Amino acid sequence: MKYTVITGASSGIGYEAALAFASRDKNVILVARRKDRLNELKEKIDSLDAGMDVVIKSADLSESEQVHALYESLKEYDIETWVNNAGFGNSSSVTDQPVGKIEKMLRVNVEALTTLSTLYVQDYSDKEGTQLINVSSDVGYRIPANGVSYAATKFFVSAFTEGLAQELRDEGAPMKVKILAPAMTETEFVLTARELDSFSYSDNVQKFHTAKEMAQFLLALYDSDQVLGKVNGESYAFELMDPIYPFTPKRKPN
Ligand SMILES: NC(=O)c1ccc[n+]([C@@H]2O[C@H](COP(=O)([O-])OP(=O)(O)OC[C@H]3O[C@@H](n4cnc5c(N)ncnc54)[C@H](OP(=O)(O)O)[C@@H]3O)[C@@H](O)[C@H]2O)c1
Repeated sequence: MKYTVITGASSGIGYEAALAFASRDKNVILVARRKDRLNELKEKIDSLDAGMDVVIKSADLSESEQVHALYESLKEYDIETWVNNAGFGNSSSVTDQPVGKIEKMLRVNVEALTTLSTLYVQDYSDKEGTQLINVSSDVGYRIPANGVSYAATKFFVSAFTEGLAQELRDEGAPMKVKILAPAMTETEFVLTARELDSFSYSDNVQKFHTAKEMAQFLLALYDSDQVLGKVNGESYAFELMDPIYPFTPKRKPN
């Protein structure tokens, strides 16, 4: 039995991604803090009656010990695909940003993603058919005012993942490593970033995708041979492309 791990599966893009992978008959391992939401999602997938196994793992990825404990607890599974989707933002200038929230954001968006990517690659990069997909953002490629720290975490995700993809490709490793870079997507993201109780995308945002649409883009990236699947911030078209950041390959010995 092979499994797809999705972090941040309790809402938004991760939730819809879990349904999308399950619709492809993939067994899924769902990770987030809110176990009730994960249970509700498991019931929904079970109700499809297609016989997929759904495993729930509650973990706070801002806690380094919980990140390692999560990975250890998955050693018994054969993991075909790992999607590091969990993450959150903050919307304010650096002069106003709450330091504690920013530290937690760095731990989830950067540290947990790097740790889980590294452990997965070290165990599976030589296995045919495996994929690591990390969720960055269009602000992993441009810096918006009032989102500088969040964008910087996503620059890290993009640079780390683009570099890893090319490093593995140069080594001839069978694992594929990819980046999904959404732009505005209707999820709980704005609630967390702006610390709001409710937010209407249709009333406040000119262009956005639904989480369901983003999950379909994720599947298109999964199916493709391209490294980067990015939403164009102008047209909102989803584009599959080569890595954007310059990469210097290892010098071959003479
Ligand atoms: N929505 C957008 O406009 C947009 C645009 C570009 C990129 N993204 C990226 O897309 C990804 C998914 O976000 P979303 O838009 O779907 O937002 P969302 O609805 O708020 O979902 C975020 C997910 O991350 C999980 N998460 C947050 N902190 C966590 C922690 N400490 N430990 C474990 N899980 C944690 C949440 O689960 P729990 O709260 O249950 O733990 C939730 O399942 C993020 O990486 C985000 O940066 C979003």
